[in-house]
Amino acid sequence: MPSPISNIRRASAIDELRTLGLFDHIQWLDTIDSTNKHLSRSLKDGSILAPALVVADRQSMGVGRGSHQWWSPEGCLMFSFALPLAIRDSFESTEASLLPLRVGCAMAEAIEQIVAPKPLLKWPNDIYIDDKKVCGVLIEAIPVTKQNSGNVAEFVTVVGIGINCQVDFENAPQPIQSIATSLHLHSRQESGEVTAKENVLLRFFQKWTELKSRDEESPGWLTEEWQSRNFLDQKWVEIKHANGLCRGRCVGVSPNGALRIVDERSTVHEILSGTVQSFGASG
Ligand code: BTN
Repeated sequence: MPSPISNIRRASAIDELRTLGLFDHIQWLDTIDSTNKHLSRSLKDGSILAPALVVADRQSMGVGRGSHQWWSPEGCLMFSFALPLAIRDSFESTEASLLPLRVGCAMAEAIEQIVAPKPLLKWPNDIYIDDKKVCGVLIEAIPVTKQNSGNVAEFVTVVGIGINCQVDFENAPQPIQSIATSLHLHSRQESGEVTAKENVLLRFFQKWTELKSRDEESPGWLTEEWQSRNFLDQKWVEIKHANGLCRGRCVGVSPNGALRIVDERSTVHEILSGTVQSFGASG
């Protein structure tokens, strides 16, 4: 079992995060129901303003995508951050639709140097290592009422990330034991230092800060990078979306982040939002 992170390590990680200048507010809690829920509540009641980051060592009711829960043991790094993104009218802008891919790429690149084999991305933003899930991302648009905006609701984006850093699956529920993995099981180094939660958190936000200059230097890098990590590439997939089910072969993502599927009649479908119900072998 991983030992709880000491106050000294926590404080030093928070100091380093502060130097990146990304957040006005940083909180590292021992335990909470869910960092996404806590941050959303605090943004709504105005006790926390974006940009903000909340990390927790334990969650009693971790939330996953759809109706899933997120198993939240000590060795899992769990955090949520609020972005003052101009996502006002739902998740329809390209910036919004690319956000899941951006988060996934940033984390995959952040952990790439500490694990093998290469971390892959399962649309929209799960991270897989060696065919097992190591990281999940939950992105929510939270309506917040700003005092000086005539009580008109604006949206703040909350990005919640759970990544198994040093998780012992011995006591995990059975389905999790068979589908999940943890960074320390793939570490390139003997020492547990590189897969420690605070190290992974810092690596993620260092990578995140680099992305702005990448956008300027090579527009289009994101879909290219994402494609090179596409876990579903050429696999037969079944995607549940707002209008039903789409079945076919996955051939990548579009510039706006939509998953591209070619069905049995060779028709190309672009799915902007949905859930991968099942996937099979490449073919
Ligand atoms: C998924 O794969 O279903 C998404 C999982 C997201 C889990 C993280 S853990 C930190 C944050 N707080 C939550 O309650 N959920 C997200």
